[in-house]
Amino acid sequence: MDAISVIRTKRDRGELSDEQIDWVIDAYTRGEVADEQMSALAMAVLLNGMNRREIARWTAAMIASGERMDFSSLARPTADKHSTGGVGDKTTLPLAPLVAACGAAVPQLSGRGLGHTGGTLDKLESIPGWRALLSNEEMLHVLATTGAVICAAGDGLAPADKKLYALRDVTGTVEAIPLIASSIMSKKIAEGTGSLVLDVKVGSGAFMKTVEDARELASTMVGLGTDSGVRTVALLTDMSTPLGLTAGNALEVRESVEVLAGGGPADVVELTLALAREMLDAAGVKDADPAKALADGSAMDVWRRMIAAQGGDPDARLPTSREQHVVTAPSSGVLTRLDAYGVGIAAWRLGAGRARKEDPVQAAAGVELHAKPGDPVTEGRPLLTLHTDTPDRFDYALQAIEGSYDIAAPGTAFTPSPVVLE
Ligand code: URA
Repeated sequence: MDAISVIRTKRDRGELSDEQIDWVIDAYTRGEVADEQMSALAMAVLLNGMNRREIARWTAAMIASGERMDFSSLARPTADKHSTGGVGDKTTLPLAPLVAACGAAVPQLSGRGLGHTGGTLDKLESIPGWRALLSNEEMLHVLATTGAVICAAGDGLAPADKKLYALRDVTGTVEAIPLIASSIMSKKIAEGTGSLVLDVKVGSGAFMKTVEDARELASTMVGLGTDSGVRTVALLTDMSTPLGLTAGNALEVRESVEVLAGGGPADVVELTLALAREMLDAAGVKDADPAKALADGSAMDVWRRMIAAQGGDPDARLPTSREQHVVTAPSSGVLTRLDAYGVGIAAWRLGAGRARKEDPVQAAAGVELHAKPGDPVTEGRPLLTLHTDTPDRFDYALQAIEGSYDIAAPGTAFTPSPVVLE
């Protein structure tokens, strides 16, 4: 077998055989297939697609490139959640302890932010002392003792995806449904969760800009999970505007703790509860009431134990930004649009995200929203507050905000998009 014939097959719109897929994934992981050859193949897949059999085989080959975890020793059923990424999407933080408080075990392997979308690990690292990197034994110990763990995926899990995702990120080949589906599902299946809820984001701040694309991605991933024996369901959720009132690392941790304390923005609470109900249902946990677990403090108790078990101090003061810049409403009326992508880019430029994998992030940087679509706004009153430790970034961030919102005449009737679309 050789890489050129595999590339030519897909370039010429052919179907890759099982043998070709197994060989190319294995040879790429071992370094026998070069990055430039794999990027040509990824581009051919992006342009010409893969059928269900090819996607399933590609996923299986990526799983086989590494180890598989096993949670069968746990007394509770396992449930995991994966979001395809968005702006202000902090739901993993309250959700994992909430679902654990209701009786399931939540092994949540998470990632870092890249580009305009935030990453759960970057957010949690703004808590002094908290560690994302755990050995498999430590992960199992935190999970068994607290019911939930949020940590980085170890190097042993689907190493082919780790290499391929980094390559796709710099070759314009991220946005291919077969590659996104196989990337996400190879990690989730290798992780060994019994059930999985997928939060597939739709809108300007998401990879999938249309409901049709999101539906295709969701059904591809649900098929891959189900065929591998993982009970998998998907929700399509809105990402046309940021989730909640904050985008940025420490800002989002603060908002998540508000949710765990029984408060927080209505959309974050609604999505967290919707995902929790799906996870508990998929895990077969009956008669649990996640709304009660938020209200009575039991989810907060799990959060505090989970953070402490990973070295974090749940009572520590979170970092605050050195400099703030307030954007005021240019007119009075009704906010009818606040674009997730514009806010995400602004948060990223303020220092909340990184341009290259090795860049550090600023814990306190980000954007705070003072209004959501549908809210009335008043000329001269704050619309957004930008936070950073490096004020020379304000101008560049403000360019991203320009043109990212619309204000209609006072009294204009406007119904914001629902949080859960399907
Ligand atoms: N997240 C992943 O893990 N992989 C992708 O390809 C896209 C988002």
